[in-house]
Amino acid sequence: MAKRKFTVTAALPYSNGRLHVGHIAGCYLPADTFVRYLRSLGEEAAFICGSDDYGVPVALTARKEGKSPQEVSDHYRKIQKNDFEGLGIEFDIYSGTSQPPHDDISQQFFLKALENGYLEKRSQKQLYDPEAGMFLPDRYVEGVCHHCNAPDARGDQCESCGKPIDPELLNNPRSTITGARPRVKDTVHWFFLLSKFEDRLKEWLESHEEWRPMVRNFTGGLLESGLPDRAITRDLDWGIPVPLEDDPDAQGKVLYVWFDAPIGYVSFTAQWCRQNGKNLEAYENWWKDPECEIVHFIGEDNVVFHALMWPAMLMAQEDFQLPSQVPANCFLNIRPQGEDEQKISKSRGTAVWINEYLRSYDADPLRYYLTMIAPEDQRTTFKFEDFIARNNDELVACLGNLVHRTVTFVHKYCDGKIPPRGELSGEDRLQLEGIGELPGLAGEELEGYRFKNGLNRVMAAAREANRYFDRRKPWLLRKDNMPECRSVLNVLLNTIKTIGITAEPFLPFAGAKIRSMLACGTEEFRWKSASEPLPENRPLGKPEILFEKLEPPGDD
Ligand code: MF3
Ligand code: ZN
Repeated sequence: MAKRKFTVTAALPYSNGRLHVGHIAGCYLPADTFVRYLRSLGEEAAFICGSDDYGVPVALTARKEGKSPQEVSDHYRKIQKNDFEGLGIEFDIYSGTSQPPHDDISQQFFLKALENGYLEKRSQKQLYDPEAGMFLPDRYVEGVCHHCNAPDARGDQCESCGKPIDPELLNNPRSTITGARPRVKDTVHWFFLLSKFEDRLKEWLESHEEWRPMVRNFTGGLLESGLPDRAITRDLDWGIPVPLEDDPDAQGKVLYVWFDAPIGYVSFTAQWCRQNGKNLEAYENWWKDPECEIVHFIGEDNVVFHALMWPAMLMAQEDFQLPSQVPANCFLNIRPQGEDEQKISKSRGTAVWINEYLRSYDADPLRYYLTMIAPEDQRTTFKFEDFIARNNDELVACLGNLVHRTVTFVHKYCDGKIPPRGELSGEDRLQLEGIGELPGLAGEELEGYRFKNGLNRVMAAAREANRYFDRRKPWLLRKDNMPECRSVLNVLLNTIKTIGITAEPFLPFAGAKIRSMLACGTEEFRWKSASEPLPENRPLGKPEILFEKLEPPGDD
């Protein structure tokens, strides 16, 4: 069968902060798991990510920290890169939108859309902060709600009555940046004519019934109510200049961060191609080939953008392929000890930060827990005690124990070599048959982007194997019937091989340890070879601990 080819991306985090468990559960972990699975199968995949450097969020952090936006984004990009590496999330490239050739490629996108008649210059009234000397994005204006009179309504939406706000109608408006009273000022912007794509988007979305209901419902609803044209330029000095040198209206304008950011997927691919000695245009192989599947992993707040705006931007370019999947997760809530459940939010500071986590714990237990509670079709809650309990009760007591007791037994009583398989009992054959189904079953879940189900299949197989161990009692067989004992251990080691291979995309560090304990080569330890029997009499590697037992948090 021909190899399949995938371009896999994960949403670009803003480079103005560290990563927390909510980011990881939202899109980076499932994306990494998916790519590892594809690679294990032998498919081709490009795994692309980087930071979202432009726009107001980074510019404001810079203002607060007294640094330049470039310094801020370089600083946080490095931290993010380490966080990902520490968790075993291995992108082919982790770049940033302030790195070349992102500016060129974004400007090309703009010019092509303009040439094709999908951009239009329009003048607009907008709130301006005279003290900061900048136009204010809606959410940086506060005032009295013009619907319900709530005192601190934000300029995009009122948290009290939930209604959308027209920022010019707020009473007593003030800038949340400087506190100054904003004034209304005329400005000119380029609008992306999203409305022109309604029919094509509708048709395209209808052809994707396999997408998650959340994604379909969200976008379906918006399409029903009609898609407004969107301004894709801003009056800011931190961003990519609008590439129209001859137009005085373009002076001082940059591309809107939400316009340039997704183009990062393309420009980082180009950068990666160049790093690998190819020419820049080699990115087309990953973006213009109809045989290549493009998969965007995102969080729920990015759905509209990735399922409507970005595809329309791609349509406006003519020769780009559209995404074939947009697996979006819902938010992860965290419940800080003793506090109410809260949505994870950088600003509230209640998150579990990855760099802090990695100082005390290994990556796999977090990967395990976040997959097991993956907010795939509804919001779920991160509970630290739960994380500890599942590590101890499931990873240590089930998977770790299975591997440990089998491998140490073989070292002790079989000279550390894979024991030969003699005559098999009915029960042994059943065990082999059962485990033989695991790669197919787990693979089906992964192909359907159901990561939690996939990992549950793996863990169910480990539980089943422990029961087999207990029923067959190799510790007794050793005394009465050594050949039968060897057969059972052979079945167990082969079971562990299959479990190790299917667990690897989820738990790469444990997967690597299992591989080395079984002394498997990399080719031998792939999805397709998951059910091939281990060569008899081969010496095993030395036993290693897969998972450490963790102390439950104290009461302080
Ligand atoms: N930076 C955005 C966020 O954190 C996500 C950008 S995804 C991209 O919500 F596609 F636009 F790059
Ligand atoms: Zn209100």
